[in-house]
Amino acid sequence: MNSLGNSVSVWIDTTETTNFPPLGGNISVDVAIVGGGITGLTAALLLKRAGLTVAVLEAGKIGSGVTGYTTAHITEAADERYKSMISSLGESDAKIVAESSRVAIEKIAEFVSQEDIDCDFQRVDGYLYTENTQDISEIEQEAEATKKLGIKTSLTTDVPLPISVKAGLLFPNQAQFNSLQYLQGLAKAVNGYGSFVFEETPVTKINSNPVNDVYTEHGTVAAKNVIIATHTPIHDTSSLPDLYAMATKLAPYRSYVIGVKLRSPVPVGLFWDTDSPYHYTRSYGNILIVGGADHKTGTVVNNQESYEQLETYVKARFDVESIDYHWSSQYYEPADGLPYIGKTAANSNIYISTGYSGNGMTFGTVGGMLISDLILGRKNPWSKVYDPNRANLLAGAQRFVAENLGVAKHFVADRFKSDVKQVSEVPVGEGRIVEIDGQKYAVYRDETGNLSSLSPVCTHAGCIVNWNNAEKTWDCPCHGGRFSTTGEVLNGPPIHELNKQPLPTSNATKG
Ligand SMILES: Cc1cc2nc3c(=O)[nH]c(=O)nc-3n(C[C@H](O)[C@H](O)[C@H](O)COP(=O)(O)OP(=O)(O)OC[C@H]3O[C@@H](n4cnc5c(N)ncnc54)[C@H](O)[C@@H]3O)c2cc1C
Ligand code: FES
Repeated sequence: MNSLGNSVSVWIDTTETTNFPPLGGNISVDVAIVGGGITGLTAALLLKRAGLTVAVLEAGKIGSGVTGYTTAHITEAADERYKSMISSLGESDAKIVAESSRVAIEKIAEFVSQEDIDCDFQRVDGYLYTENTQDISEIEQEAEATKKLGIKTSLTTDVPLPISVKAGLLFPNQAQFNSLQYLQGLAKAVNGYGSFVFEETPVTKINSNPVNDVYTEHGTVAAKNVIIATHTPIHDTSSLPDLYAMATKLAPYRSYVIGVKLRSPVPVGLFWDTDSPYHYTRSYGNILIVGGADHKTGTVVNNQESYEQLETYVKARFDVESIDYHWSSQYYEPADGLPYIGKTAANSNIYISTGYSGNGMTFGTVGGMLISDLILGRKNPWSKVYDPNRANLLAGAQRFVAENLGVAKHFVADRFKSDVKQVSEVPVGEGRIVEIDGQKYAVYRDETGNLSSLSPVCTHAGCIVNWNNAEKTWDCPCHGGRFSTTGEVLNGPPIHELNKQPLPTSNATKG
């Protein structure tokens, strides 16, 4: 494999970082919002504009979650095909998904213009296409389904990519932007006049009361309403046990992206093929951004191979001069194909918005819009379709939950086998699960040879974490929790870091 360039998203590389202060004591606001991604900041701005006070509590920097690592296609073409939605939900509910996605695109365009956000927002066409003859009927059926729902698609083989397309479906008037610059524009508009954005302020606990308390190391925020906008809802199984059920309805997947320079002109548009996992392509200036090679989190032994697959795919189709970027991040597949947006329980003032698959630019915006309406007591026609407590999981969804649990159980059982038997077998720059005297350790050896050791037991619900060699992280196969080599939480649902678990002295020195 050749050089893969910077290990950072093009958005983070090309955008200056923000500098909002951490929370500095106890405060009280109308709405506390945990997470400064597209969901949290969309809700925050709408609520502030409606006259409420909000506090956004972000563990890292604005956009340091998945919105800073997305590819930022803004589209009404959902991952869950509309054909499948019509057969599982019926035409009128599927129409709500299509309509809300279109409204979200226009809401983003409106925010960009009203707040004067310099984020390279651009209207572009989108194309679902296939290189395989056997998938032509899939495209034709999706064309029929989108027509029924009022989406202005048309069949075409004129897809502006240098590849042999067998069938394509044009979605006109979609959009793309620099997601990090967009978020920073929203955050700037949220902060001030009694509302706040706090960075470097991880939430450590949420107590559900008539007035909820949101705890951080720097102080507590009292708020009548709380939005957990952490992509997958963070929770402590002791204080918010209801959210454990939600975690079982979400399957975590990693997706990989490379940013390449071409010797030929960069195609403009949004492109998704029918492969499984599918490839997704767009441009950003002179960079072609291609994503794919997805797999369930924590179930792959060599994550580096995912980048190799993408490199091979791109080089077979484009005249690549250099690979300048590579990055990866996580998304969540919901059990029945639709996001969960709304109250955690009927009598609760805690809200969640999650399960966007690869459509979080539109669904995150839908989430922010819908939750702000619910908090403001406004009727919203989308609330039933996205209700997190929707009853009667469809047959497919029940299978999903069973399979999801099954996969996790199987994988956990596998993990009872340790990776290596001796600490000395942990290579430089790698992590391994090592069993010593019946006790498991998550052992990492840094580039200088120093060993560090943590408990491999995930602090969410006790599964055993797995080493991710592409990103040098400990990933949990059960609900997608991820931890740094020093144990800090990188992805929910866990709130608490992996416990320190020093190696027995004799092994610590055997390095
Ligand atoms: C590789 C990849 C490509 C994608 N491409 C697209 C695409 O082209 N188009 C599209 O529509 N969607 C895409 N998606 C999906 C989309 O990016 C996500 O669904 C969306 O960004 C999620 O936004 P969010 O605001 O819900 O979460 P996030 O952006 O993850 O924001 C959540 C925030 O919560 C913070 N947080 C977490 N825990 C705590 C805590 N304890 N205290 C305080 N803060 C906390 C995090 O730091 C983070 O900033 C892609 C996903 C991946 C993985
Ligand atoms: S994320 Fe749930 S047990 Fe690890």
